[in-house]
Amino acid sequence: MQTVTLIPGDGIGPEITKAAVDIIKAAGAQIEWDIQNAGTDVIEKEGKPLPDRVIESIKKNKVALKAPVTTPIGKGFRSVNVQLRKALDLYANLRPCKNIDGIKTRYDNVDIVIVRENTEDLYAGIERQIDEDTAESIKIITKKASLRIAEFAFNYAVKNNRKTVHAVSKANICKLTDGLFLNCAREISQKYPNIEYKEILVDNLCMQLVQNPEKFDILVLPNLYGDIVSDLCAGLVGGLGIAQGANIGMDYAVFEPVHGSAPDIKGQNKANPTALILSAIEMLKYINQRNTAEKIERALFKTLKTGNCLTADLGGDASTIDFTSEIIKNL
Ligand code: NAI
Repeated sequence: MQTVTLIPGDGIGPEITKAAVDIIKAAGAQIEWDIQNAGTDVIEKEGKPLPDRVIESIKKNKVALKAPVTTPIGKGFRSVNVQLRKALDLYANLRPCKNIDGIKTRYDNVDIVIVRENTEDLYAGIERQIDEDTAESIKIITKKASLRIAEFAFNYAVKNNRKTVHAVSKANICKLTDGLFLNCAREISQKYPNIEYKEILVDNLCMQLVQNPEKFDILVLPNLYGDIVSDLCAGLVGGLGIAQGANIGMDYAVFEPVHGSAPDIKGQNKANPTALILSAIEMLKYINQRNTAEKIERALFKTLKTGNCLTADLGGDASTIDFTSEIIKNL
């Protein structure tokens, strides 16, 4: 039995968490959940959205499954997600984007893995108001973080039989910061002669992704471009409802969907839990419960392929609960 921290989040978080937990239980996983609430719902009682107990729990259990948490725009608390990634040094954000049978999109040959640097760049949160009309934000890029994210991308390529790594930047404009990121990627690429290494500017990448996404394999990007490009790639394969993710560091790993707390559909039993279920499948593989992971994967893919019980974001009219029951039936 393995203990895993479970963060149900807020917005649609609790609904999709219940779906994932019910499926994992029905599949017979050997997991005990250490439930740690975080986000807007705990601020009133505990004074902040990310109480220390959440971080302590992940440090103890080493692995977590996390649903989305709202970050209010403008003033207020710092993002729970950014804080967690920093506190646990979860430096690599891994976001695979692949077509799934049964989910119709404009493309049928997308198989891209996004490796997003997760600890610095404009996410460092170093901003100041210079005067009433001017504010500035500082973009931090370090050699240490850039080398290790490039190493992660190439290492992932080797382990998963991938062919090409594209380093993505805007080094024509951000010559020092993105220039450093690129230099580090080049340096690491030398150690991996069997993996093709290419460079591309982020604006050109966006255009090419919507024209010919099949040209791309692994993308390694600084934090902000990684954030934006991963939503774009989610759109190529069917939207945020199916986009999985993982935050991985040397000591800990937090598995979570790419999407946010979707306040527009909160509490309506409409949310698609697929992204969280896919993230949970990767979590189960990570903790060596591969058979259970594959059992859930088969049931999920069968449900999506059959197509008669899909949530609204995928063109169906099934509720979160109906979709979950269908997967459990297919286990
Ligand atoms: P969002 O990803 O929550 O929603 C964007 C659109 O996609 C909405 O129309 C929503 O209904 C839809 N959508 C998202 N997930 C879905 C799902 N599973 N099933 C069906 N439809 C889904 O992005 P938004 O609105 O920009 O952010 C809302 C909040 O979430 C913000 O406070 C943001 O900071 C936070 N957020 C949290 C993240 C996390 O916890 N890792 C990641 C991204 C955003």
